[in-house]
Amino acid sequence: MVNLPEESLIVVKNLRKSFEDTGDVGVLNDITINIKEGDLVSLIGPSGCGKSTFLRCLNCLELLDSGHIRIGDVEISRASVSQKPDEHMLVTAHKMRTEVGMVFQGYNNLFPHKTVIQNVMLAPIVVKKMRRAEARDIAMKLLQKVGLESVANKYPSTLSGGESQRAAIARALAMNPKVMLYDEPTSALDPELVGEVLQVMKDLDSEGMTQIIVTHEMKFARDASDYIVFIDKGEIVEYDDGDILFTNPKNLRTKEFLRHFTGTETAVNC
Ligand SMILES: Nc1ncnc2c1ncn2[C@@H]1O[C@H](COP(=O)(O)OP(=O)(O)O)[C@@H](O)[C@H]1O
Ligand SMILES: [Mg+2]
Repeated sequence: MVNLPEESLIVVKNLRKSFEDTGDVGVLNDITINIKEGDLVSLIGPSGCGKSTFLRCLNCLELLDSGHIRIGDVEISRASVSQKPDEHMLVTAHKMRTEVGMVFQGYNNLFPHKTVIQNVMLAPIVVKKMRRAEARDIAMKLLQKVGLESVANKYPSTLSGGESQRAAIARALAMNPKVMLYDEPTSALDPELVGEVLQVMKDLDSEGMTQIIVTHEMKFARDASDYIVFIDKGEIVEYDDGDILFTNPKNLRTKEFLRHFTGTETAVNC
């Protein structure tokens, strides 16, 4: 059973977001969802349905128009767009960003002029004022966790796409986030490199990390997620256990969407 508010790490209520050029048609229309600590949740949905915007609102890269988001004990609420963000809201948004690690699709997750380990050490030193030696120890442990200790002193340009994404995960983990968000982390990768990145998420899941992943890897979504959320036109249409959603979707829109993936999903052996 999902969605027991009292044990939820993430609570989203009536989240709305639009952009100036999207006008009255909201990009996110009244999203409400609770996510428990330790859950691995896959977000799926057609291009342009609001998946990235949802993740960006969750870590306050975008400020919500209205609604409520709580992650751990950091809460941000806004009554409407006409409520101007005050200092308290901006400080809260900043705090929220430090609670949440995020990995994006492309190859621009890492600073190119820094080595892999320097990339992982950077935020703890700059943001948390951690001593270099301590930051280095933590970074090395994280690189071991994602299987990259041998490339610690290499520059990002020398890494494969899969290694880059694993390094990006290590870098996000270095801030000790409560939640990891991934926006199509494998969609720019060659198929043979997808599995190694997804495996890191599975490993983190078994350690109890809370993770939300926007993905088109339907096999991974079905097998590894605690549940899958289907979003369409800025709304949560349906969410369920992967096996149930794939074999017996309740909503016609879900059915239509999943039909497109039959036989086209990337084979992933992990
Ligand atoms: N910064 C922005 N400014 C204006 N429109 C945006 C912005 N970000 C996203 N949108 C629009 O919001 C809608 C949802 O986008 P997005 O969240 O990126 O969808 P998805 O990740 O599901 O493909 C799209 O119509 C997109 O053009
Ligand atoms: Mg997107």
